[in-house]
Amino acid sequence: MTRVLSGIQPSGAMHLGNYFGAIKNFVREQDHADAFYCVVDLHALTQNIDPESLRKASLDLMAIYLASGLDPERCTLFLQSHVAEHTQLAWLLECTASMGELRRMTQFKDKGGDQEGTRVGLFTYPVLMAADIVLYDVDRVPVGDDQRQHLELTRDLAQRFNHRFGDVFVIPEASIPSVGARVMDLQEPTRKMSKSVSSPLGTVNMLDDPSDIERKIKKAVTDTDGELRYDPETKPGLATLLSLLAACERVSPATIAQRYERYGDLKKDVAAALIAELAPIQQRYEEFRNDPAALEAMMAVGAQKARSVAARTYQRAADAIGLAPPVSH
Ligand code: TRP
Repeated sequence: MTRVLSGIQPSGAMHLGNYFGAIKNFVREQDHADAFYCVVDLHALTQNIDPESLRKASLDLMAIYLASGLDPERCTLFLQSHVAEHTQLAWLLECTASMGELRRMTQFKDKGGDQEGTRVGLFTYPVLMAADIVLYDVDRVPVGDDQRQHLELTRDLAQRFNHRFGDVFVIPEASIPSVGARVMDLQEPTRKMSKSVSSPLGTVNMLDDPSDIERKIKKAVTDTDGELRYDPETKPGLATLLSLLAACERVSPATIAQRYERYGDLKKDVAAALIAELAPIQQRYEEFRNDPAALEAMMAVGAQKARSVAARTYQRAADAIGLAPPVSH
């Protein structure tokens, strides 16, 4: 069975971009692959750190995963920092990576790049991501388009390691959803929905209550020609709404377009569909969040399953690179 792994950073509220672009696909995939999903809390340390919010965000995201339908019986669900081998392997990989190849990462450059005050962790972030992946002998990594370069680096590092030290790692492939699968901002429909936009009206969060969802969809930007068809190039706002309903119903946006004549009717149905999609998730979320013992028990199961795979891979890498065999202590 193909093994897949993906991770999301616990940094703020999950929105529809995270849901339709990632989480919903994770849920579908858990029955077709040997799936590993993690909350990458160590990666979140490269942003401004507020200990209490980070701890809370990690549990929030774990509860969102579970509430969305990820099932610890059908996949391996864990918190990155619970498996020490991630940072251990990251060090071995850092010692095979070059300044030049990390400096070329566009996300690093976009986030400020090589400055006196730049955190070293932001620079080496892609190496930790590579470790996350190769630790689990992963075949395929479902990620957004913005992670393509990091996946290339992962492959390069794994190939180089194998070449120099022996056949230790499986070389992973990126699996990137089609452009149509991206959720765009409701106010500025030519850019991706994100948590860092200036206008909060453009982003629907998974935990938004029904009245907020209605309001945001109602105010979503469309156009004035009144023609209802799916055309992301010239009618990006309308296309965003059609895609959202299409994602809920799992049909194509063009099919949805044929059903409507008026923008207002479409908006009403988009809001209703989103509310219906999110309501059970929100309810389960509250249940998980109000039962810390159950959440912890599930994380323990996940951590143990993950560690049993990660420890073996790490040991292979440590042996290959020349570290002395472990001793019991
Ligand atoms: N860098 C990814 C992002 O920001 C998150 C991530 C960390 C990840 N480790 C990963 C994604 C391993 C896939 C696999 O979206």
